[in-house]
Amino acid sequence: MEGKRMTDIRRPENMERITTPELAQAFIDEQVKLLREQIGSDKVLLALSGGVDSSVVAALLIKAVGDQLVAVHVNHGLLRKGEPEQVQRVFRDEMKANLVYVDAVDRFLDKLAGVSDPEQKRMIIGGEFIEVFAEEARKLDGIKFLAQGTIWPDILESEKGIKAHHNAGGLPDDLRFELVEPVRILFKDEVRAVGSALGLPDSMVYRQPFPGPGLGVRCPGAITRDRLEAVREADAILREEFAKNGLEGKVWQYFTVVPDFKSTGIKDGERCFEWPVIIRAVNTRDAMTATVENVPFDLMKHITQRIITEVKGVNRVLYDFTPKPTATIEYE
Ligand code: XMP
Repeated sequence: MEGKRMTDIRRPENMERITTPELAQAFIDEQVKLLREQIGSDKVLLALSGGVDSSVVAALLIKAVGDQLVAVHVNHGLLRKGEPEQVQRVFRDEMKANLVYVDAVDRFLDKLAGVSDPEQKRMIIGGEFIEVFAEEARKLDGIKFLAQGTIWPDILESEKGIKAHHNAGGLPDDLRFELVEPVRILFKDEVRAVGSALGLPDSMVYRQPFPGPGLGVRCPGAITRDRLEAVREADAILREEFAKNGLEGKVWQYFTVVPDFKSTGIKDGERCFEWPVIIRAVNTRDAMTATVENVPFDLMKHITQRIITEVKGVNRVLYDFTPKPTATIEYE
């Protein structure tokens, strides 16, 4: 590229906040032009997690350069129920993207087996992700660019030293790409507005935050496949019921945790020894502090009834009443 590098671009001081479909469309038109100029006839690689930022980047690139984009979706086994299917349906079937789906479930879960330390779990998940992605990248020829869903708060936070710019780098030295960061000057709400204008479904654009290590941090201690499945099924029920009862989009973050202990119960007249499911539903502005949502009691009873009858291996449901601090939002 001549002149200013894409990665040096900053949000103009006087930039109008993108709050309407018209402003979103204007941004899209401009980005499509810039992306075509930058990329030319070369190929771009993208790690598509299905999260808001990478999904919007994918949709922008599909519009700008079509099948010059190679989107790689790694299923690490720690995604929510239906997520890998949604990514494939939206991007491959509907948007006709060049999507590489990598089923790495066994690889991740085998590596994580017996590992109980939360930070070690995070390191394994992060490290393995880079390895799987790098392997896929090496299989592809002629890739010049790497697209990333970096957004403006990421840049500001890494400049202030609050958090490392988690998107940047991480790939081994033999994989050197020029970066493409089409949403780097946008705030999160603007990324969502752009995503909507690009035709992405609301369930993708307006979804609640979901941690990179996924359900792995909601299956505290050493992850086992059966307990992970209980977390996933209980989470799907919680999300379905919150959506049906008008809490989706109102509560900031809600999920289930299945701790690594069992307690005595009764099922079909017989003693059983099974896990509890913990429900957590919190509101916050910046995730630094959080308050607990006052979920209607009747709804909690209904969700409990569904979880204890539908989720294998579970005989109790608990609600976490703890604000942050003292508790963090996640359990690990
Ligand atoms: P805590 O548990 O620290 O969570 O109160 C605050 C917010 O950050 C999310 N979170 C993570 N996100 N990788 C992520 O991408 C992580 O390792 C991680 N840990 C926590 C959490 O879901 C909440 O929204």
